[in-house]
Amino acid sequence: MKLSLVIPTYNERDSIQPIVARIRTALDPLKFPYEILVVDDDSPDGTAEAAREALWGSGRVLVRRERRGLASAILEGFENAAGEILGTLDADGSHPPEKIPDFLNPLLVGNADLVIASRYVLGGDTVDWTCARRFLSRTANFFARSLTPVHDATSGCFFLKRSVIAGVPLNIQGFKIALEILVKGRHRTCCEIPYSFQNRRAGLSKMGLGVGFSFLAQMARLHVWRLQQR
Ligand code: GDD
Ligand code: MN
Repeated sequence: MKLSLVIPTYNERDSIQPIVARIRTALDPLKFPYEILVVDDDSPDGTAEAAREALWGSGRVLVRRERRGLASAILEGFENAAGEILGTLDADGSHPPEKIPDFLNPLLVGNADLVIASRYVLGGDTVDWTCARRFLSRTANFFARSLTPVHDATSGCFFLKRSVIAGVPLNIQGFKIALEILVKGRHRTCCEIPYSFQNRRAGLSKMGLGVGFSFLAQMARLHVWRLQQR
């Protein structure tokens, strides 16, 4: 068994080295084979070079020549991954690599085949969020409950067995690939493991109004898909 950890990046030059170092510190003692795949959409700030330097031997950098978005970057990473266990986390330090062993555990002991890192179960939280962001995130998850019982379906950090998405046609538009996998994936058991979301210290968020609209469109598409399955 091997873990393939995908890190999507766009203009994360100052974040990529610290996150790779934290991942190494968290995973090396486990003696569990892993690779890191950085999927960069040709960031103009030199993220790909910084990533290559940071990885030396423990992974690869895939550079896509034009920016094609977060969800498709994560899926392209999964397609190019060698591991039977797949996972993803943001480059900016919002998701703590120190918790990866906890996220992996349910997959390894057979309690789950999809693990969502969750801000909205006991023990999880969002530190230093503005009221507006709290409200938007809670609202998105309130609506997502019509599709999945999971509390944090908009999480950007999750782990799964490859079999969950093998051969499943996933829509690559937008930001919220976790929701897509929750609805369409072939997981029999799913669990949420709490973590504390930390705001980024360097670089800028790529989340904007467009993300909100694409989320609504995705919700509509997934409802239609579900009706068609009946
Ligand atoms: N390759 C690629 N292409 N990577 C991207 C793109 C893109 O178009 N857009 C963003 N990323 C990368 C960023 O470089 C970062 O590593 C990660 O995806 C998340 O992007 P952020 O811009 O930091 O997103 P955020 O902090 O606003 O949103 C995070 O939290 C949300 C929950 O509130 C993400 O984890 C979301 O997935 C999550 O829904
Ligand atoms: Mn972020």
